[in-house]
Amino acid sequence: MIKADLAIVGIAELATPEGLAARSGPDLGRLKIVENAAVAAREGTIVFVGTERDFRQTVEVEPGGRTVDAAGGTVLPGFVDAHTHLAFAGWRESEFDERLRGATYSEIAARGGGILSTVASTRAASREVLSDLVRERFNAMLGLGTTTTEVKSGYGLSVDDELKQLDAVRLAAEGHPMTVVTTFLGAHTVPAEHRESRADYLDALVGEMIPRVAEAKLARYADAFVDAHAFGLDEARRVLTTALDHGLGVRLHADQLADDGAASLAAELGAASADHLEYASDAGLEAMARAGTCGVLLPAATFFLMMERRPPGRRLVDAGLPVAVATDFNPGSCPNESMTAALWFACLWGGLTVDEAITGATLNAAHSLGMAAETGSLEPGKRADLTVHAVPNRYHLVYRFGVPRVRTVVAGGNVVVDDGQLL
Ligand code: NIG
Ligand code: FE
Repeated sequence: MIKADLAIVGIAELATPEGLAARSGPDLGRLKIVENAAVAAREGTIVFVGTERDFRQTVEVEPGGRTVDAAGGTVLPGFVDAHTHLAFAGWRESEFDERLRGATYSEIAARGGGILSTVASTRAASREVLSDLVRERFNAMLGLGTTTTEVKSGYGLSVDDELKQLDAVRLAAEGHPMTVVTTFLGAHTVPAEHRESRADYLDALVGEMIPRVAEAKLARYADAFVDAHAFGLDEARRVLTTALDHGLGVRLHADQLADDGAASLAAELGAASADHLEYASDAGLEAMARAGTCGVLLPAATFFLMMERRPPGRRLVDAGLPVAVATDFNPGSCPNESMTAALWFACLWGGLTVDEAITGATLNAAHSLGMAAETGSLEPGKRADLTVHAVPNRYHLVYRFGVPRVRTVVAGGNVVVDDGQLL
């Protein structure tokens, strides 16, 4: 008999991608589906995934172990959110109101609002206050079924403030059930005090910030925002090659508002991911496919910015890229931390099927963060990170859009959300 200390039974449908490799093309939507399923774990690791009938014959829940009834719900791997800017202080609802009155995101950024207004409020917050905000957001995300999240810096934009932001994330993650991967985004935009001296800011990025972040092991990746209001291709190349030299992986904010050639740069650098991609060229996407760079769709941000372009879901799949789906949670372009919401937009507006979007929100996202050996799918040997959604099958997650229906969340083998309540 297989021994377990946690079992989930009463599962109407279990849906999961399988393996360690990123999925693309026709494989993107290839899920393992088990009806009338059960899952079991021991010491935080999955030991059984199969039918409840096989479970009864092969698994023994040890005395003191726990059995959770999924009550006819659907079980998926815990969501992996591969792109967030959640370590911020202060919201930007007044800019949102301005946008509803006709101002654009770029116009607001050009006059010193946007990212720079969040930089001001994040600089003003202490490490402890910021850390409490981050912890609250981790809690909210767990409640929505996210068990692993990436977090970017990029609202500090000075040596001390970037280190403070990353340190606040480290502090919040300590002892928290959320699995956290951090990314240094000092190249988010040029801070106000360097408007007239951007070369100095670039020198600080490569000469001081990246070496210190790498040395303190405060980030696993570096990212750069290639955009007319942020950094040019050559600037981003310089920052990210420095990051590679210091042992960081790279990701890129690419071709979100115009075709800046950033998808090709991501491929050239062997980036783990290039994200947004609304305006990416065919050549850029083809280069990414050859390099195995993951395309991360941020369709809730596309929606929230009221962009004319749709999220390029179908284009990315057709180009043969491994595709991931993430929130982009941040106060300016996506003040929403729900991965289920990202799935609605990825499917209903970006053209993915439900099964493709599930792989994008789990295994492919985990792979893009270098975490696929640990999480992103439900199979023996991986960490027991899973969600029970109160719906009879996976289609209902998107089909009945607009309402998240998470019932139970297990992170690292611990039940952290029960009956929709955070424990
Ligand atoms: O991914 N594109 C740049 N960065 C974020 C927005 C951050 C902000 O507006 O504060 C994004 O959309
Ligand atoms: Fe972003």
